[in-house]
Amino acid sequence: MTEADPTAHRQYDFVVVSNRLPVDSTLDDNGEQVWTQSPGGLVAALEPVMKQHDGAWVGWPGRADLDLEPFDADGMRLVPVGLSEDDVENYYEGFSNDTLWPLYHDVIAVPSFFREWWDAYKRVNRRFAERTAEVAAFGAIVWVQDYQLQLVPKLLRDARPDLTIGFFNHIPFPSYGLFSQLPWRTHIIDGLLGADVVGFQRDADSGNFTQAVRRLKGFATKGQHIAIPAVDGLPSRTVIARKFPISIDSTYYRNTAQREDVRARAREIRADLGNPKTIMLGVDRLDYTKGIRHRLLAYGELLSEGRIKPEDVVLVQVASPSRERVKSYQDLRDEVEVTVGRINGDSAAIGHQAISYHHHSYPREEMVALYLAADVMLVTALRDGMNLVAKEYVASRFDNDGVLILSEFAGAADELKRAVLVNPHDIDGLKDAMIAAIDMSPHERAQRMRSLRRRVFEDDVEKWSSGFLNALDVHSLASEQ
Ligand code: F6P
Repeated sequence: MTEADPTAHRQYDFVVVSNRLPVDSTLDDNGEQVWTQSPGGLVAALEPVMKQHDGAWVGWPGRADLDLEPFDADGMRLVPVGLSEDDVENYYEGFSNDTLWPLYHDVIAVPSFFREWWDAYKRVNRRFAERTAEVAAFGAIVWVQDYQLQLVPKLLRDARPDLTIGFFNHIPFPSYGLFSQLPWRTHIIDGLLGADVVGFQRDADSGNFTQAVRRLKGFATKGQHIAIPAVDGLPSRTVIARKFPISIDSTYYRNTAQREDVRARAREIRADLGNPKTIMLGVDRLDYTKGIRHRLLAYGELLSEGRIKPEDVVLVQVASPSRERVKSYQDLRDEVEVTVGRINGDSAAIGHQAISYHHHSYPREEMVALYLAADVMLVTALRDGMNLVAKEYVASRFDNDGVLILSEFAGAADELKRAVLVNPHDIDGLKDAMIAAIDMSPHERAQRMRSLRRRVFEDDVEKWSSGFLNALDVHSLASEQ
């Protein structure tokens, strides 16, 4: 960008703030910078919203020590927040992903509490808030995303009381028994209460949050309303806390799945796998919350007991790399890859792999081809805010075929009730569900899929974002009166 860039100091009426920008800066084999799509469902859900509003997106460009000016990409204004190597280690890998992530996911892994990490979290949240305050126009709507930025709403409200502030938590909010372990729990609650509307995936999450507010702050709550009393010359106000289940751009998945090239690719995938009777598919970030180990255990036992044969059933597991410097993620990768090797070593026949394992991510079209090829989709998360992969699978199945096995601990289970619901900790139950899915009649498959598709098309990402933004609008109009 040059000095003369007329947009350099532009301010925006709509600003989204998330830890990551929708694109990540990565280095190719020649050491040249290339931009790639960021991982995770958050970015995929927010992209269509951003394209509708002429807003700005504030976030980290995905690599340490990058100092970048705002730039345009794919019709969006992106405003980078730089993180040093130290910030990445302590704020992102440490506090966000080794304290909050395991604590908010039912302590599936043990959270670590380090004061240095907390200091970095405060420091980086402040930087995000400052950058946002610079680009937000007077009276703008600012929508802050996810657990990495829970202090930003209060920091912004203090600096810019003119703003309307929303916060959406993409991951679960833990029960008070777990949340109260966090040494800085009251600061987090204060940070979130800086927002006008705090959104969650499920009723259970907003219930846990309002309980924490009552216990830690003593504020009165009634349904979705939290009464914040007047303090230090600031007037009393009301915060709304309620669920807004996130979704996907369902039409995009259906239209892509209907493309002849994508359908041809699905047939090619099936042929490459040796034309098995059944393809089972798992698609996850390589994360211990996703229940990949439980899924592999169940599948391995079915093979070793002879209830399925590798010539008939193949499991394709896409495990996209994630948070690779965090120890619990490294341990998970080792365990998953040893298990995959063992199952393939024990069970594969010549020309028929039992598990086709892929430790990388794929472009969206390729994912849709995989969804079309998969007879059974396995979503066996031990705890998951929503799980958009489940919804992507359903939206792609325009042929009304395919069976979704879905963990009752994923937020998506609240809506996708006609999936085959499982408790992934119950390995025998999971095995039976896999067999039931493999043997399910075409009639039942179609009945279930039709009902799932109705839900995914009624409640798409447009409904999520407009629902949240309307609630924010109504709230700010009510506050002005
Ligand atoms: O939805 C949870 C989340 O942490 C998002 O905030 C994030 O974009 C995605 O998962 C991927 O995680 P990360 O940004 O740590 O790679």
